[in-house]
Amino acid sequence: MVLNLEIGSVFSPASPMAEATLRLLYLLLVLGTGVLVVVAALVVISAIRFRDRGRELPEAGERRKAEVLWILGAAVLLLVVLVPTVQTMRIVDPPAGARAPDLLVIGHQFWWEVRYPASGIVAANEIHIPAGTALLVRVESADVIHNFWVPQLARKIDATPGRPVAMWLQANRPGVFLGACGEFCGVEHAWMRIRVIAHTAPQYAAWQGAQVRPPARPVASDAIAGERLYQQLACATCHASSVAVGPDLTHLASRETLAGGVIENTAANLTRWLANPDAVKPGSLMPNFHLAAREVGELVAYLETLK
Ligand code: CUA
Repeated sequence: MVLNLEIGSVFSPASPMAEATLRLLYLLLVLGTGVLVVVAALVVISAIRFRDRGRELPEAGERRKAEVLWILGAAVLLLVVLVPTVQTMRIVDPPAGARAPDLLVIGHQFWWEVRYPASGIVAANEIHIPAGTALLVRVESADVIHNFWVPQLARKIDATPGRPVAMWLQANRPGVFLGACGEFCGVEHAWMRIRVIAHTAPQYAAWQGAQVRPPARPVASDAIAGERLYQQLACATCHASSVAVGPDLTHLASRETLAGGVIENTAANLTRWLANPDAVKPGSLMPNFHLAAREVGELVAYLETLK
């Protein structure tokens, strides 16, 4: 199966915020086209009318009238744009200091950390939300400037280190909505993908239930050996949720994708990744541990138990 990586379009909005933004975009396109047509027509008309150099220019009074009309016209146009823009901002952006965020999205080179403060759930790259509910999201960065953008659901917003910002995230219907980092942040910028997975209420409750439970202990011998290796290699030095240099792996096997949402989460891809991360995603911070094939197999067997 080939992983769908096609980012959603702003022209198929699936949230009140994205719908409002698209309405504003259409209004600006229509008004902008109108201005273009009028100005182009006037240029052509005056070029033809005043082609003859001997012809007198309009009187000063006439010209002043035209200037006043121009200024008034532009002012009215700006007002026509201002009102719906402010209305759209009120729909898209939460009021300052609204309430504690439901969700923290933190950009990293080159993946997204996702935290749910109320439940303590920590995820990566895949954001599970209940459909039909607006979540208040705080967007921040752990290193450089990233940009969180899921075109069908929400506005585009910079994730700037030290400057957290807030936005609404909502999906009108259950489904998967793809987005990406929208600000150049390093070699793997293009492969810093986002999947928002909107669930029905029971599906979302089931997902939450599974995430707050610790995964079942490994029983197969290779998985047990893999767990030992995971501890020996001190993988948690980077991958624990408290450190978050790399994604938290507590429920890795429950995710659809690996490596910043770029490859499907399968045993084969996990094997490729552990054998040589740089070959899968050059520039990733995941080091190559030069593991033997047997060790990779054991680690994969263990990681696959982390449902
Ligand atoms: Cu993160 Cu581009």
